[in-house]
Amino acid sequence: MRKPPAVLRAWLVQAAILSCGVLGPVALAQAPAADAAPEAAAAAPADAAATSAAPGGAAAPAPGAVDAKEGEGADEVVHWNHWAAGNEINNIGSLQRGARNFVAYCSGCHSLKYSRYSRVGQDLSIPDDQLEQFLVTPGDSKNGYMLTTLSAADGEAWFGKAPPDLSLITRAKGTDYVFQFLKTFYADPNTATGVNNLALPGTAMPHVLAELQGVNAGVFREVEVPAQGDVPASKKAEFIRFEPYVAGRMSEAEYDEFVRDTVNFLDYVGEPAKAKRISMGVWVVLFLLAFSGFAYLLKQEYWKDVK
Ligand code: HEC
Repeated sequence: MRKPPAVLRAWLVQAAILSCGVLGPVALAQAPAADAAPEAAAAAPADAAATSAAPGGAAAPAPGAVDAKEGEGADEVVHWNHWAAGNEINNIGSLQRGARNFVAYCSGCHSLKYSRYSRVGQDLSIPDDQLEQFLVTPGDSKNGYMLTTLSAADGEAWFGKAPPDLSLITRAKGTDYVFQFLKTFYADPNTATGVNNLALPGTAMPHVLAELQGVNAGVFREVEVPAQGDVPASKKAEFIRFEPYVAGRMSEAEYDEFVRDTVNFLDYVGEPAKAKRISMGVWVVLFLLAFSGFAYLLKQEYWKDVK
């Protein structure tokens, strides 16, 4: 575990996120007005939303929306849905950082109800004292499950939806999906949280990593959807790219690494024996190959008198 103080700071951030669950959205929506440069302020969310008359409610784009400048390379569409997590399940350092990230930024809302702290400690080579100090929720036992203290009822009251248990999320939706989800939040004043998400449009989850990533504005353009049978022609917003809107603490590369480590940890949690299974698989196949050789020789030996 590198940088223990960062973990402590992260705990505070987590507490802050929880307590700001309700205020967060307001702060987010106001932030740009407070510290954005004049040009950016001109495209501030409130105005943009009023003028873009974006179609389609929750999934609709917001600040800086629609008006992608014509020409000048504005058409370079970013294919965010092709982004791959690229995590390495046998990279213990990455898994340790992921566990730290998860406890610091996610466990305030999300449980891992099938994982015990002690097992995670064993699998990820985290010594007991560090496990107790940095990962186990104060007051919990290290033999307990990694449960959040947020009750489902509170979650529903605060966010409109209880944050789901994430034990199996990478198996249900894939590591790439979770990677994309954590990377595609963008400012949207039309939502309760002040942000929207490309991977899960209209998501109830606030951008809890905004402090690290910053907040992006989504640049969208309107495209015509031709009439088809009974369905009349309509317009829909197509994503083009992100533009920095409020700066975060991390560079893009650092944030990618942060998300990759976190996804890696969730991948491990979804199947704790995965790394072992893969490394053992090689030996099993080698054994079977060698064994086939011996079995063949034995068969030759037995049959040579019969023929
Ligand atoms: C402030 C509470 C809160 C925190 C902290 C939080 N989440 Fe969430 N998360 C939610 C809520 C609420 C949902 C349900 C969103 C929905 O279904 O629209 C959710 C949903 C999710 C989902 C499921 C998305 C899907 O497709 O169903 C994933 C994955 C996720 N969160 C990952 C994380 C990770 C990783 C972290 C830590 C970096 C984190 N969350 C921190 C509240 C939170």
